[in-house]
Amino acid sequence: MDTLTSIAAVRERVASWRREKLRIALVPTMGNLHRGHISLIAAARQHAARCVASVFVNPTQFGPNEDFARYPRTPAADQPMLQDAGCNLLFMPEVAEMYPRGAAETTRVEVPGLSGILEGEFRPGHFAGVATVVTKLLNIVAPDLAVFGQKDFQQLLVIRRTVADLCMPIEILGAPTVRDADGLALSSRNQYLTPEERLVAPRLHAVLAAAAERVVGGDQAFADLERSGLESLATSGFVPDYFSIRAASDLSAPSESSRHLVILAAARLGKARLIDNVQLTR
Ligand code: PAJ
Repeated sequence: MDTLTSIAAVRERVASWRREKLRIALVPTMGNLHRGHISLIAAARQHAARCVASVFVNPTQFGPNEDFARYPRTPAADQPMLQDAGCNLLFMPEVAEMYPRGAAETTRVEVPGLSGILEGEFRPGHFAGVATVVTKLLNIVAPDLAVFGQKDFQQLLVIRRTVADLCMPIEILGAPTVRDADGLALSSRNQYLTPEERLVAPRLHAVLAAAAERVVGGDQAFADLERSGLESLATSGFVPDYFSIRAASDLSAPSESSRHLVILAAARLGKARLIDNVQLTR
């Protein structure tokens, strides 16, 4: 596995694979890799002959009071993990390579509607940053497919919408959330938890799973379920941002006929802000 830092070098390598008619997959990440990220590499390899991963902590998706500066950067650990997972090329650009004009002067990709709700309400500008950097990465690598985790369910929908609206000929694959044995979704931000908070953290998934079970069992009192979800999280020691039952296709409020739903939650626990979701079919 080679590590490249320039856009031109990545294009050259990908072009040589194209001449060999090889199918190419891209897995964008911000590094500090864990088993969740590695599962995306495995999925990519199942669908393509060559796999490119990117590691780039994208400044434009962090709010002014968020954790951009202290986001964990661990390239020395990330590289062997990617290599062992069968990744063929790592793209690890500097900020100046991706934003030579500076972030504020760079063209942005904005997904209306979807970007302003749930995560977007609590992290203004976040999804414009995500859609912008993912568009740039997709244009640099021009893969046949790109793989994203369902852990960030709203992000996955924002990217699907971006690719559809901008007519990019790229398949987007959503991969299942990888969890620890106690249910906590793996996340680089779990490192911000103290040992005591780490014991509480799995409650987020437990509360989501309990609500999903009620809905699958026929409970249609969504507002009540959302309220009691928020209460359970607060009682466990979280400061919840939202706990919301939505249509899985577009995150709209579910109608009586929506069968495929998703329950999404975000909550702060000490210094960490955790997000998770469960999908269900009724
Ligand atoms: P990052 O948080 O590093 O996540 C990279 C990819 O890994 C995303 O598609 C995310 O959904 C997926 N992922 C994270 N935790 C996972 C888990 N426990 N199970 C399965 N997949 C998981 O998401 C981003 O980076 C950035 O926003 C990015 C898309 C790279 C744009 O900057």
